[in-house]
Amino acid sequence: MRSKIISDPALRKAASRQCKRIGLCWNCGWSDVCGLWNMTRPCATKTCSKFKEKSICIPLKLGVEKNASNMELHGQALLDYLSGNENTKCILRRNDGIAYPPLYAKQFFYPEGLPKLDRMAIEHCSGRVLDIGAGAGTHSLAIQDRGLDVTSVDISRNAVQVMKQRNVANPVVGDVFDSYPGFFNTVLIIQNIGIVQDLEGLDRFLKHLDGLLAPGGQLITDSFDPRHPTDQADNAYQQDRMSKEVYPGGRTLRLEYQDKVSDWFEWMRVDPDTLQRHVQNAGFRIKNLGADGGRYLVSITNKKGSA
Ligand SMILES: C[S@@+](CC[C@H](N)C(=O)[O-])C[C@H]1O[C@@H](n2cnc3c(N)ncnc32)[C@H](O)[C@@H]1O
Repeated sequence: MRSKIISDPALRKAASRQCKRIGLCWNCGWSDVCGLWNMTRPCATKTCSKFKEKSICIPLKLGVEKNASNMELHGQALLDYLSGNENTKCILRRNDGIAYPPLYAKQFFYPEGLPKLDRMAIEHCSGRVLDIGAGAGTHSLAIQDRGLDVTSVDISRNAVQVMKQRNVANPVVGDVFDSYPGFFNTVLIIQNIGIVQDLEGLDRFLKHLDGLLAPGGQLITDSFDPRHPTDQADNAYQQDRMSKEVYPGGRTLRLEYQDKVSDWFEWMRVDPDTLQRHVQNAGFRIKNLGADGGRYLVSITNKKGSA
């Protein structure tokens, strides 16, 4: 039986305020056995007594395996897709309980071809390329097809395994803040810069970037402009962040895959003006390469290069 998920953020907030025990249950808005931050087990088939619209919780089995490496669940889904599980998907959940539309592993293989901005990004790559957060390696394969030398980094071992199986030339397990041998003419972080987690992470990465780039090198990256909330709940989430005086584009998320759940992690969307300010403060130059809906693509050139 499906439970009614309380999507009204005000109602959720009220429920979490009332909770004297652990917190707010995602399924029914109130429970004495599970909470928003530390769901040890679901509240199963209990009827929610706190809300008049009685809802029954689904036995989700969340929390069966905690502390799974955050991105490894995504990598596992990619691997399972490659092994023939066509419909494999992760759930990406925000910490107000709202789940985004399922992340089908298939979409990272781009069976219908890469979107326009992604193709533009690949056309702008030149020289030696470092593809960070390469995932299933679809962009790296397109860069290889252009005859360029690409090193493809992902924090997930499973994702790197997928890249090996797809004949990506140089797949490496690594972090966005790691160093890699030599210098690169292009660093690519596509879909998207949120990988640096938050604005502090962005500043940290921009410092790090100078050590990755060859003279005249560029970072090509993209983001979604968070100033256009996708729905009411997104708007409320951003308002809540603003009231706490934190950057509204940030989000606290977790991945759910089969019976596993990741830790909470930060994933930022940054608006073009904020990105420009941080880039310029770090002494880089930024150039707009294109936009598609709320998504935009930029190149960021190092101090030694020309824009
Ligand atoms: C949204 S996916 C994008 C994948 C690929 N660029 C694409 O567009 O299909 C983000 C990828 O970044 C990887 N990732 C997340 N955090 C990372 C980090 N700190 N360092 C390196 N890779 C990371 C994830 O494992 C995932 O494969």
